[in-house]
Amino acid sequence: MGYELIIVTGASSGLGEGFAEALAGRGRRMVLVARRRERLEALAQRMRTLHPGVEFLCIPCDLAQAEQRDVLLERLRSLPAGRSLLLNSAGLGDYGELSTAQREKIRRLMEVNMLAVAELTHGLLPRMLSDGGDIINISSLAADVFLPDFALYAASKSFVTSFSEGIRLEVAGRGVRVLAVCPGPVHTEFGSVAQRIGFDRGDMPLKSCFYTSADKVVRSTLSALEAGRARVYPSAKVWASSCLLRMLPLWLLRTVLACRPRRVQVQTGGMP
Ligand SMILES: NC(=O)c1ccc[n+]([C@@H]2O[C@H](COP(=O)([O-])OP(=O)(O)OC[C@H]3O[C@@H](n4cnc5c(N)ncnc54)[C@H](OP(=O)(O)O)[C@@H]3O)[C@@H](O)[C@H]2O)c1
Repeated sequence: MGYELIIVTGASSGLGEGFAEALAGRGRRMVLVARRRERLEALAQRMRTLHPGVEFLCIPCDLAQAEQRDVLLERLRSLPAGRSLLLNSAGLGDYGELSTAQREKIRRLMEVNMLAVAELTHGLLPRMLSDGGDIINISSLAADVFLPDFALYAASKSFVTSFSEGIRLEVAGRGVRVLAVCPGPVHTEFGSVAQRIGFDRGDMPLKSCFYTSADKVVRSTLSALEAGRARVYPSAKVWASSCLLRMLPLWLLRTVLACRPRRVQVQTGGMP
């Protein structure tokens, strides 16, 4: 079923860009949101050629800024009504322990990963309940576990999964589907944004075996949405990891995570 309006946050890169490309043919109008205007314009330009019947609007917005989120919501609400899809993909991580994190990055992570998702959902839900719609929130496998040296990010994604599941039940049977997407690692710009200068990456053992392509994440997500599922883990390995994480006794999980490789400072004088 098509949409009158599709909104994709984080469309300037990675998963958001992949979703925008895959969804473009399904809507009459698509709104692309992120901070980097030139990336959004380049994507819109490419897609206008492929989908001449679709209107593409680029709305540069820093989702970490409350006033900019308000302006974005006003713009979105001013667009013609109809069945809508909101896809919240914008997000960021921060590798390293909390005590050495930059306060500004902590604030940004919480604003973008949680507040923006909650406010956009809250702002658009009434309209979706009258005209129909879908919400896809990009969470993470990290939502299923506490992660030292990535604690705030994992906690922010626990928020996204829990929030999505809760909202899904609130609106059940009223024409709005809500899906939480829980990928393991994907090759995008995420890792370089999360990495702190002068710190070791400290990746978990076998992390490289768990990478899923962005394309696979997009395809699994769209199938899961059609199937009306609440949550999708977009590869067999990621799904199996999630099952294992939820089965392990807490004491064992704590013991394993206490032995993790550390994301420590490797250069003296490097800024956190
Ligand atoms: N890659 C992974 O391994 C992985 C795994 C599990 C879950 N995820 C989740 O997947 C989602 C997409 O991440 P990705 O892998 O595609 O990473 P990415 O390539 O770094 O893309 C992140 C997107 O978020 C946008 N963004 C960041 N801060 C923003 C802000 N303040 N205001 C507006 N937009 C902002 C970026 O746009 P601008 O910089 O142009 O603003 C970019 O478009 C995130 O929610 C992430 O947590 C990623």
